Amino acid sequence: MSRRRRVYEGKAKVLYEGPEPGTLVQYFKDDTTAFNNQKKATITGKGVLNNRISEYLMTRLNDIGIPTHFVRRLNMREQLIKEVEIIPLEVVVRNVAAGSLSKRLGVAEGTQLPRSIIEFYLKSDELGDPMVTEEHITAFGWSNTHELDELMHLALRVNDFLSGLFLGIGIRLVDFKLEFGRYWHGDEMRIMLADEISPDSCRLWDIQTNERMDKDRFRRDLGNVAEAYQEVARRLGILPES
Ligand code: C5P
Repeated sequence: MSRRRRVYEGKAKVLYEGPEPGTLVQYFKDDTTAFNNQKKATITGKGVLNNRISEYLMTRLNDIGIPTHFVRRLNMREQLIKEVEIIPLEVVVRNVAAGSLSKRLGVAEGTQLPRSIIEFYLKSDELGDPMVTEEHITAFGWSNTHELDELMHLALRVNDFLSGLFLGIGIRLVDFKLEFGRYWHGDEMRIMLADEISPDSCRLWDIQTNERMDKDRFRRDLGNVAEAYQEVARRLGILPES
């Protein structure tokens, strides 16, 4: 692992040069952070669970024709991915009020939204990922209207599919964050889902009890973080091999 060239290190993942050109290896760490790096911890086993959960969800999305960067899982903590040019936006889809939306707009957490809401945030650690509008995005050239239409279309398809998938295992998909990348194949460019989809990037509530089964357990000191991620994996039928 240490002999490979490290391309990027984030808070919860590391990207290494892949075995073939145009590929990378995505390594899932146990580290977790919240509130723009102000709160940090290590959650033993989280990386293994997120690697497995993200593999499963990306594979299911691939199966229904949503292009993703995922190629295959390599081992407990690593997956092979296609190298993409990350669009510097976090695309958040919300079905139920929670988190920053509740705080900003005073809508009680748990309120069903009249329709799914898509928000964009600029990926910038220095600025704390500020919310941006289509106007900002196109004016500053982070993306264009055609690409944004595609991102929104894909985000809503992901939402429809994942909402149903989680509902089937007794989990409400409250909200989630997606990242997209541009994949170049010769002169042709395709938009692909990138990064990960896991309890680190989704709010997942038990349908019966509203118990949090996601990163809010860490953000709010609710305890049993790894156990909650494990329960998500168990319900998906994909507990990692021991
Ligand atoms: O904090 P907020 O309510 O805006 O988060 C909305 C959703 O996006 C949550 O599911 C959260 O886990 C996810 N998110 C993320 N990475 C960020 C910000 C939010 O995965 N940097």
